Amino acid sequence: MSPLHFGLDIFSTSLGLLVIFLAILFFRHRHHWRLPPGPAWIPFVGNIRELTTDPDMRIPLRRLHRKYGDIYTLYLGPIPTIVVCGYDAIKEIFIKRGIEFSDRPAAVLPIIILNGGKGITSVSGDIWKNQRKFILVTLRNFGFGRSKLEEKIQTEVKLFLSEIEHLNQTPFKMMTPIQTGVGNVISHLVFGGHFNHNDPRFKIMMDAFESFLHHASTGSLVSFMPLLRFVPGDFFGIKNITKKIQLVKDFVNELIEEHVQKFDEGNIEDFIDAFISEMNKQNNGENTIFTKEYLTATIMDLFIAGTETTSTTVTWASFYLATRPDIQSRIFQEIKENVGSERLPSMQDKQSLVYTEAFIMEVLRMSNIVIFSVPHAPVTDVWIRGFHIPKGMQIFPDISSVLSDPAVWGDPENFRPERFVSEEGTLLKPDEFIPFFTGRRNCLGESLARMELFLFISALVQRFELMPPEGETLDIKDVDGIFGGTHAPKPFYIRAISRHANEMI
Ligand code: HEM
Repeated sequence: MSPLHFGLDIFSTSLGLLVIFLAILFFRHRHHWRLPPGPAWIPFVGNIRELTTDPDMRIPLRRLHRKYGDIYTLYLGPIPTIVVCGYDAIKEIFIKRGIEFSDRPAAVLPIIILNGGKGITSVSGDIWKNQRKFILVTLRNFGFGRSKLEEKIQTEVKLFLSEIEHLNQTPFKMMTPIQTGVGNVISHLVFGGHFNHNDPRFKIMMDAFESFLHHASTGSLVSFMPLLRFVPGDFFGIKNITKKIQLVKDFVNELIEEHVQKFDEGNIEDFIDAFISEMNKQNNGENTIFTKEYLTATIMDLFIAGTETTSTTVTWASFYLATRPDIQSRIFQEIKENVGSERLPSMQDKQSLVYTEAFIMEVLRMSNIVIFSVPHAPVTDVWIRGFHIPKGMQIFPDISSVLSDPAVWGDPENFRPERFVSEEGTLLKPDEFIPFFTGRRNCLGESLARMELFLFISALVQRFELMPPEGETLDIKDVDGIFGGTHAPKPFYIRAISRHANEMI
């Protein structure tokens, strides 16, 4: 047995013992709490049964919301979890009382595999505040929300379009070229370079993140029941995913090492440089987040949060474009009238491309790629609507209860971009539109994601007509969906027919 495996086994056993210890602690202390109502649960299995009655997780969630109200308790394995539904309750808890609910619960197994409980997405308290501030300030310095960033995205848009052009109408899966496109935008920001569309290292990275999000992220069975990883063989794929993630970490560590070697304080070019500069300044600081471990974990977080989400959204967009030629042609007309075909759409065009932006918003609403947001936790023991919830308890905001609430949208089941366009033809931005969640801990990359979605999708429609493969039909029933860390469509093929004979890219 290699020392690594021995270490991992000790780690697994300790984690198993920790879960048992927490479960005992929980049974001893639960009489102090007053948790919201919820369905009866089976010890250690919890309410997994209730959540898996339908392949579409949103259906049992809707049923539970109707039966138990806006705030209810579910046992995910042995872990009691508070689910918050509907815009009013979400606003009350995560906006009005956002400070009290801005922690994350103790890191679960998949998060430990990904980033050792460090990074940005899973940390709490002052570490989180410092990390978030540092990341936002640093990324802003490298062009977040500015024209410098737009230039970088446009470089990737052009490569993405030429990749599709080269396919010459052969059916393809959108996920492949778009993952490289948006992954490269993060690469520019993080390490100041980008990958070739055929680079095997990039493929390994994307494959690891996809496997992680679809099979092992928070929300998956193993995250509720870490003991499942002891099931002989690798039934839940955890060992395989751990191996894949380790390869990515090794690669990220190589990149960091290269940056350390050529570091020049007078020439800070990317996120890694900025972090190293801070590491040097705070060399002997206690409790500092500026360590190599945090740097690796933060890079893992930025790639995973920033690549899979945006590329899954563009993949959903390509599905709606290919299956709704009426909508596709309206977007194309809008682009033709306002931008023409001589140049790519830019962020300056966004104001005039109202229907295009409404389409993107409707894709974000309908696909609802992050159903449970990322779990939150109260920073101290709290009372909500007469319920007493202890510090650190897992709280899942049910974003799907808002994005598909009939009281808000009227006909949430229909794909209708017009719902975001006012009678005067301006873009509507309802408060209930929360695909990036809301409050103090909302998505850190929202402005980047919205810029990418606009630039990639508008250029795609300007340049190509998307349709199902010849002689085939595409239907939502066939592609909806994979419910893991993100709600992704099942793999499907489309064709892209070039609209212009003239080269524009
Ligand atoms: C369509 C694309 C995206 C969607 C729908 C999305 C959605 C979300 C959601 C729902 C959360 C959880 C917020 C919460 O904790 O309550 C989140 C967190 C986060 N997102 Fe995004 N995201 C997207 C793209 C991006 C991009 C491009 C980045 C790149 C930087 C990014 C970085 C992050 C980070 C770092 C967090 C954790 C923030 C924290 O813990 O303070 N996301 N995102």
